Amino acid sequence: MSTADPVLSLIRPEILALTPYSSARKESSGGRIWLDANENPRTPSASLPPAVLANQALLNLNRYPDPQPADLVAALAAYYEANPANVLVTRGSDEGIDLLLRAFCRAGQGAILITPPTYGMYSVSAAIQNARVVSVPLLPGKNFAVDVSAVVKAATPEVKLVFLCSPNNPTGGLLERASVLQIAQALLGRAVVVVDEAYLEFAGTPSLLKDVGALPNLVVLRTLSKAFGLAGVRCGVTLAHPALIGVLQKIIAPYPIPTPILQAALAAISPAGLAATHASVKLLVSERKRVSAALATFPAVRRVWPSDANFVLFEVTDAAKVMAATRAAGVVLRDRSRDYGLVNHVRMTMGTAEENNAAVEAIAHV
Ligand SMILES: Cc1ncc(COP(=O)(O)O)c(C=O)c1O
Repeated sequence: MSTADPVLSLIRPEILALTPYSSARKESSGGRIWLDANENPRTPSASLPPAVLANQALLNLNRYPDPQPADLVAALAAYYEANPANVLVTRGSDEGIDLLLRAFCRAGQGAILITPPTYGMYSVSAAIQNARVVSVPLLPGKNFAVDVSAVVKAATPEVKLVFLCSPNNPTGGLLERASVLQIAQALLGRAVVVVDEAYLEFAGTPSLLKDVGALPNLVVLRTLSKAFGLAGVRCGVTLAHPALIGVLQKIIAPYPIPTPILQAALAAISPAGLAATHASVKLLVSERKRVSAALATFPAVRRVWPSDANFVLFEVTDAAKVMAATRAAGVVLRDRSRDYGLVNHVRMTMGTAEENNAAVEAIAHV
């Protein structure tokens, strides 16, 4: 039996059998004169903004980009301490979620399992794919810990994917490593466990990625949108067993990484970029501590949940009042009251110290 079998056996058979689109850039190598991809030999310079014209590396925008640029894949693999074969670069981690749904869930038959309250895109991607959503709530009495035995029990044969978010959005806490591994171990050959680590840098704890080798049904999602401050770049990373990466490569759009994005992502994971990101994370973590402590003293705040992310979830006496007061001060927070079990809960993302002060000041007077 190959190590990939517990994962490949769960993939939609029609996807396994699919002959993927073979793009010109994938098929070609070498050569001097490229007449294979129906590109224009040049971009009229009047069509390019001055910033692009001044940037030599962007003067080939007339060409399709490399589908998975090897230098970016190698740099991301080094940063995440993985092998390049474990890496798929996507348009944000949202695209990774969507690809997984399409690879594993047959419309009208497959299902996913989520642990509410959690990130909303798992259910939305499931709805788009017409996959059922099985919910096993986190345990608020245990600081939103995952209910391991309930998850394993609820993972019926239709459930192909279990989404666990750690640190979890919107509650902010890490899931226990042992719990995630217990679930992945119990579901080996039955379902794939997707650990969404979008906020992991703010937790300062190691990724679960190290266990992908031992547990081929474990998938880790990362992103440059949060700690790296590059939400506008749309660069996400799916880390998984090479056989699963190969399948996702079959169904991803032919050219997902626009040329200007490649430059931005490479700069972010250069040594200088990493040092700057580290400093920015440190600052946001100290703001998180400061803001959490301040919020806890206000009459309108009932409880501040501990956070390992770049946001803080807090329970208030009246969410509508808090939202109105902050809005009047020009500050936009997120009312999470419609999330499972989060009536009168508000989420505040950590901004600059001045931005946070404006929010804190407004909440203090509710
Ligand atoms: C838990 C979680 N996962 C994934 C995403 C999507 O991130 P990306 O910008 O990489 O698509 C978000 C965005 O807020 C998120 O909160």
